[in-house]
Amino acid sequence: MEDWAEEMKVSQQERRRWLRAVWLHDALKDAKLPRGTAHGPAAADRAAQEGETDRGVLDAVRYHSLGYAGWDDVGKMLFLADFLEPGRPNRRKRARLARRVPRRRDEVLAEVVAIQIRMHLRAEKQVDPLMLQFWNSLTRR
Ligand SMILES: [Fe+2]
Repeated sequence: MEDWAEEMKVSQQERRRWLRAVWLHDALKDAKLPRGTAHGPAAADRAAQEGETDRGVLDAVRYHSLGYAGWDDVGKMLFLADFLEPGRPNRRKRARLARRVPRRRDEVLAEVVAIQIRMHLRAEKQVDPLMLQFWNSLTRR
């Protein structure tokens, strides 16, 4: 995320928003949460309790596993950073996508959402409506 912020020449303030989202998004991933509670919404609620007031940062954290059509840049960048991080499988493909982000952010975003939806379909898993709405927001009719 820092590399992207650098390359995309965003303001210090915006860069700090992106980094806050990174720090917060998986804060409760390994926490014992009530059944049916997802770690994104739990982390967003907790961050709000602790004083985070930036709506874009909170929405980024809340929906980072699903996508969200109402996102500003923070949510979009976090979604990309999360999916394209080096520790995941298909490292070279992910690295190629990551390199394209600064110049073609929205194009890469649509590709990443398409990959995720295909993964769900292939595994015959449900696709969350939020993910489909996010996809629809990125594509033309
Ligand atoms: Fe996560």
